[in-house]
Amino acid sequence: MIMVTGATGNVGREVVKLLAGQGAAVAAVSRNPAPAQPPAPAPAPGAFADGVRQIVGDPSRPQSLAPALGGVAALLLSPRAVGGASAELLALAAERGVRRVVVLSAVTVEYGGGYRRFAEEFAQVEAAARASGLSWTFLRCADFAANALAWAPQIRATGRARGVHGAAATSPVHQRDIAEVAVQALLDPGSGPDAAHAGRAYALRTRPGERPEPARRRPGTHPPVEGRRQGTAGRRLTAHRSCACGVTAGLLVPLP
Ligand SMILES: NC(=O)c1ccc[n+]([C@@H]2O[C@H](COP(=O)([O-])OP(=O)(O)OC[C@H]3O[C@@H](n4cnc5c(N)ncnc54)[C@H](OP(=O)(O)O)[C@@H]3O)[C@@H](O)[C@H]2O)c1
Repeated sequence: MIMVTGATGNVGREVVKLLAGQGAAVAAVSRNPAPAQPPAPAPAPGAFADGVRQIVGDPSRPQSLAPALGGVAALLLSPRAVGGASAELLALAAERGVRRVVVLSAVTVEYGGGYRRFAEEFAQVEAAARASGLSWTFLRCADFAANALAWAPQIRATGRARGVHGAAATSPVHQRDIAEVAVQALLDPGSGPDAAHAGRAYALRTRPGERPEPARRRPGTHPPVEGRRQGTAGRRLTAHRSCACGVTAGLLVPLP
């Protein structure tokens, strides 16, 4: 059995789908029980495919997962879902016989950049995994492609996208790609020193050596915005460099 924390998140839900599609036994953790009858046709948030065992619990309160940890061989750890409880959750997991943990970490642990507080939090989660005695694999992810969706409402409403760091270049990675790597690490057929991914940290980002196109590096543009532009059905859009309060105002566009 593979337990997925953050199972309703961008990566977690893809991991659950991929594992279930490969016939693996999956326990998907969410704080919210799925509705008994999800409204058709779209599955409700928190609803998982047939055969996926839903665990209602809060990973940031590890004891809520204690009854479900028996029989779990590997755990996907989503730091956002686990909050400050990584060490406690991993100790409990080890006690219940879990052997492997795959951590959704961040490239900033390795390369710096971004807010130091975030990098430190991810580093603490990695340290907890190292100290847990479980076999560990770290997926140090760059910014998710899904982050760009934060611009969608203002683009729809105004045709503009506002960003503070107009000339910033990032190396976004798609959450589905992260999920595919996670699944390989979770299902690693080896064990102990024979496991291919044990004790490995992978940086998941745009291919090394790949550079943003020149157009994406103009001041006033931002790579994810440019990426979204290409999928906007011929609409002419503009990107605006803005102060932080302007960016916040843009992100609040959909709110009443
Ligand atoms: N976005 C990025 O660019 C980026 C980059 C590097 C690493 N990461 C890390 O990658 C992991 C996966 O990201 P994601 O976007 O897939 O996750 P996400 O969608 O932000 O969150 C995953 C799930 O965690 C639960 N959750 C959220 N806030 C919580 C809280 N305060 N307490 C308890 N549970 C909470 C929610 O599940 P329920 O409501 O169903 O319980 C949510 O669906 C995260 O830990 C994130 O920090 C993200």
